[in-house]
Amino acid sequence: MMKTYQIDKTDLTVTRLGYGCMNIGGSWDSAPLTDENKEKALRAVFTAYDAGVNLFDHADIYCKGKAEEVFAEVWKARPGLRDKMVIQSKCGIRFKGDPDAHSPSRYDFSAEHILRSVEDILKRLQTDYLDVLLLHRPDPLVEPEEVAQAFDTLKQDGKVRYFGLSNHTVMQTELLRQFVNQPLVVNQLEVSLIHNHLITEGVLANQTGNANALATGILDYCRLNRITVQAWSSLAGGKITNPKPDASQEIQATARLVQEMAEDKQTSPEAILLAWLLRHPAQIQPIMGTTNPQRIQACCAADSVELTREEWYSLLVSIRGADMP
Ligand SMILES: NC(=O)c1ccc[n+]([C@@H]2O[C@H](COP(=O)([O-])OP(=O)(O)OC[C@H]3O[C@@H](n4cnc5c(N)ncnc54)[C@H](OP(=O)(O)O)[C@@H]3O)[C@@H](O)[C@H]2O)c1
Repeated sequence: MMKTYQIDKTDLTVTRLGYGCMNIGGSWDSAPLTDENKEKALRAVFTAYDAGVNLFDHADIYCKGKAEEVFAEVWKARPGLRDKMVIQSKCGIRFKGDPDAHSPSRYDFSAEHILRSVEDILKRLQTDYLDVLLLHRPDPLVEPEEVAQAFDTLKQDGKVRYFGLSNHTVMQTELLRQFVNQPLVVNQLEVSLIHNHLITEGVLANQTGNANALATGILDYCRLNRITVQAWSSLAGGKITNPKPDASQEIQATARLVQEMAEDKQTSPEAILLAWLLRHPAQIQPIMGTTNPQRIQACCAADSVELTREEWYSLLVSIRGADMP
């Protein structure tokens, strides 16, 4: 079994790794789901579930709704699974052309849009409730009182149990926390060994020639306020486990180091990269996005890998291509 913990301020017990459903719905268009799409999606989801994963991450936009739609097949194939899974989805991103041809791509945190989005999500997933709803990307036009009102309604109606954010900065989170009555329990952010800015910013702040001279402090903020950090694109799409021939020297060298560590620890390179995130004390929960069953299993092996401080820094120094300052 995979190790678990409770998301703070909730009664949700989750596995240390989550499964991201962004690509299980086939294509990102309005073509209907095929039998092949359904089989592939079920294989991916059940591989993750059978390996112990219990948190499944969605968004209303994934495959234009088809990722959620195909997920409903899970309950048909294995009735009784709904209450054993923690189902999370997101709203707030609207595509160009929605609802009219001239509508631009945009973010929409209006109460009306949040409420309608959740109705649609529940219909596609064929479930009565979401365990967690995240606001997908910060909307500069956000009116926090409206978000508060929408969240209150969803909570009172039993349609969403807990709420959180994704891609939000410290101040954006603070603004919402001033108004929203429910605790904000998750912030899902892009973090990986390659995309390590949120981890290294505090070290690099005020270093000469560093573009990130001002640190965002979001990981420390989440630790302080006991907000669970989830890492999206936690494998950076396989850039290290499967480097392209023209990849940078740093990536090639890191790929070799990861391979050596994996052999040494009798595990997979994917597990080393996700264990690097798990080692961070912010209790980062990596969300894996591969639909390939072998890769899903390779990722899940991270749960039993522990990196020493020396190993953790060796990986960071390698991808930086430079010693720590
Ligand atoms: N909150 C946000 O803004 C946000 C943004 C993006 C994603 N997410 C969430 O995070 C989850 C993970 O993101 P992600 O899919 O970008 O993460 P990832 O796990 O880093 O990348 C997986 C993607 O890379 C491909 N890939 C190619 N070679 C690979 C290799 N050797 N190893 C692993 N993957 C390889 C996979 O294709 P195959 O399926 O063929 O393996 C899949 O499309 C998503 O499913 C979604 O739930 C959230």
